[in-house]
Amino acid sequence: MPDHSAEPQFLCLASDLAETGDAVVFEVIVFGVARPVQAFAVRYQGRVVAYLNQCAHVPTEMDWQPGKFWDMDRRFFICSIHGALYDPPNGLCVSGPCRGAHLQKIAVQEIDQKVYWYPSEQFQPVF
Ligand code: FES
Repeated sequence: MPDHSAEPQFLCLASDLAETGDAVVFEVIVFGVARPVQAFAVRYQGRVVAYLNQCAHVPTEMDWQPGKFWDMDRRFFICSIHGALYDPPNGLCVSGPCRGAHLQKIAVQEIDQKVYWYPSEQFQPVF
């Protein structure tokens, strides 16, 4: 559940996220990291999910082109570096060198046709 004590951050319009379509990318400040880090949001089975764009194997961006995270079947996210597959609802790596590890999830919510993400102790907005 989102931390509703945090100010929700506008991410995009709900219509910007088609089912298993391209991701909307955005940046967050990660606790302990000096520069902004990329994150991404997609729609899967009707729901929006968002994660830090950092593979659990090596902390590098995963998309094979900007905003392109899906495998050929549009069932899993695929890391373009070594091919790890991640399950969209929970970010679990189901295949590849980091099997069993998770992507870092960012809380999101759709409200009135808009998508917001929720800052936390770990993730803060870029100002
Ligand atoms: S960096 Fe993603 S699978 Fe190795």
